Amino acid sequence: MSDLTFNKVAGAVLATGLAIVGLRELSSGVFATEKAEKPGYTIEVAEEAAGGPVAEAPIDWGTVLPTADVAAGEAVFAKCKSCHTIDNGGANGTGPNQWGIVGRKPGAHAGFAYSAAMVEYGAKNPVWDFERLSAFITNPAKDMPGTKMGFVGLKKAEDRINVLAYLHTKGATIAFPAPNPAAAAPAAPAAGAAASATAPTATGSTATPPATAGGPAGQAPTTGAAAAPTAVK
Ligand code: HEC
Repeated sequence: MSDLTFNKVAGAVLATGLAIVGLRELSSGVFATEKAEKPGYTIEVAEEAAGGPVAEAPIDWGTVLPTADVAAGEAVFAKCKSCHTIDNGGANGTGPNQWGIVGRKPGAHAGFAYSAAMVEYGAKNPVWDFERLSAFITNPAKDMPGTKMGFVGLKKAEDRINVLAYLHTKGATIAFPAPNPAAAAPAAPAAGAAASATAPTATGSTATPPATAGGPAGQAPTTGAAAAPTAVK
């Protein structure tokens, strides 16, 4: 091979190499690769394992309602008033009139165009009892996906207890349930079968002790929330 031929071949090889390197550089500029901020496969178990996120202590409605602050509940209801009237025969607004809401069938107030989600809910749950109302107003969109109620919710149990005690004074058709401290104390050894309805999954959560074991006596000794059609005002 002559020197000249060798130079030509070497030149071609070099040029090819250069072109490859150059292309790689170029493409890395075009297709930028970014390092992930966090490495993959982070397995988060802590929260779920502790009984689900923000597991709240179950509320013993029969104990807390009779001593709730109705006036404070009326103040809380100010948040609802932009959409709901409360007076007997009041007009529907953005939301349906709330007279007699406690004990009413969900999605059944005349003249209001409910969401399909609310109508379906009413077909499955015939009565707005305290448990259901509380769950709904805690976080409407989460409790009832598809609801038209565009309200963030009342996160504080105290607010819900007071507002439901207030709503109960407005034409309710069910009474306060009987006190059942076991329902609010899932850890109690005796709670087993009796409290099965409230599914004490929140073991280890901040369950408030049944402050007034036995509860305030005399208020509506009904068994089974929805059972009693007598209104207690
Ligand atoms: C931004 C407007 C808005 C606010 C604020 C609001 N709601 Fe509603 N609410 C609605 C609408 C709309 C519906 C109908 C939902 C549907 O059809 O899915 C509704 C439905 C309801 C229902 C079911 C009614 C029925 O007839 O079955 C209850 C109970 C309720 N709201 C309670 C409350 C309470 C208590 C508050 C205040 C803490 C509140 N809402 C605040 C708009 C609102």
